[in-house]
Amino acid sequence: MQFLATLLSIVALTVAKNILLTNDDGWAATEIRAFYRDLKAAGHNVLLVAPVSQRSGWGGKFDFPDSPELKTDGEFAYRVKGDPSFDHEIDDMNVWYFNGTPASCVGFGLDYLIPRYFDNMTIDLVVSGPNQGNNLGSGVYTTSGTVGACYNAVYRGVSAVAFSGAESNNSFFKDSLDEDPLSEFNINAKLGTQIVQQLFEKQGANPNVLPAGVGLNVNFPKVGYSSKGESCVDPKFVYTRMNGQDAYGLKLAYNETTGAFSYGLKTSNALGACYSGICDLPSETHLLATGECAVAISAFQIDYDAAAFLQEEVRTLLEPLF
Ligand SMILES: *[C@@H]1O[C@H](CO)[C@@H](O)[C@H](O)[C@H]1NC(C)=O
Ligand SMILES: *[C@@H]1O[C@H](CO)[C@@H](O)[C@H](O)[C@H]1NC(C)=O
Ligand SMILES: *[C@@H]1O[C@H](CO)[C@@H](O)[C@H](O)[C@H]1NC(C)=O
Repeated sequence: MQFLATLLSIVALTVAKNILLTNDDGWAATEIRAFYRDLKAAGHNVLLVAPVSQRSGWGGKFDFPDSPELKTDGEFAYRVKGDPSFDHEIDDMNVWYFNGTPASCVGFGLDYLIPRYFDNMTIDLVVSGPNQGNNLGSGVYTTSGTVGACYNAVYRGVSAVAFSGAESNNSFFKDSLDEDPLSEFNINAKLGTQIVQQLFEKQGANPNVLPAGVGLNVNFPKVGYSSKGESCVDPKFVYTRMNGQDAYGLKLAYNETTGAFSYGLKTSNALGACYSGICDLPSETHLLATGECAVAISAFQIDYDAAAFLQEEVRTLLEPLF
């Protein structure tokens, strides 16, 4: 027994990594707290830094506090007007809020907290989410705060993964966090941890978890209580593309009766085009639309330059300008 315990602690030690965890639904969301719990239980050193308020849809905007104190209450009034613009849990120096966007929370962690309080530790992986609501296709990629934090980390040369769930029921962790194996947040945290563990296992002696300039966009289906007949608890993993069949972007919807604007969705031939990547892979949007019990994992790159043949084609359009 003693031997096994020692062995387990050595195994845990050898794979212990430094993880920066953020989201856009706020630091007090049940999903992020469940993920924090599970990543720590897997033996990692986790620094949670997330917005004090709801920052869905803020994309990669790099917003930061314009005063030392909060001017309005944070999400779930867990911190309120007049509280500092950033602080940590009283009993946990690894759990912080920042009055910024998900992207700037990554900056706050890497550029402010780590040099001051964490001995300049190197972050092995930035993880963002799991978000309440899927983030599918490049049309949504730029809009999502969850994904915004992820590509900001990738820009900086830090490997990163964005996680999004199919549920949209943001809850306060002090009301909701439990150990129920059918709770959506517990299943998503378990799946997220499984993917992170797999990446670390393959990392070996490589300095980076993923190739430079590459990140992952992961989308979970409806699981546990939110799945039909509570049937989806152990989804399979499917390697997908961000664009392709069913991929959509946002358009403005206007309701003539109420005079209210809202999000509308629009597919287009642009979102169906395949210029790079493996064109035969299913699109993540299509996979999720099938309602299958399956997790979509897409690799993206931040090299947005058009493919060489497209650059050539566009060059001729601009001739004789150069
Ligand atoms: C961390 O790095 C910064 C900048 O490189 C340096 O100024 C600071 O002294 C370092 N802090 C520690 C604790 O080593
Ligand atoms: C949202 O989550 C709360 C807390 O877990 C739960 O009580 C409530 O039933 C959920 N609502 C929906 C619509 O799923
Ligand atoms: C506009 O809003 C009304 C009231 O909420 C709703 O009943 C109706 O279905 C909406 N129309 C459209 C086209 O979404």
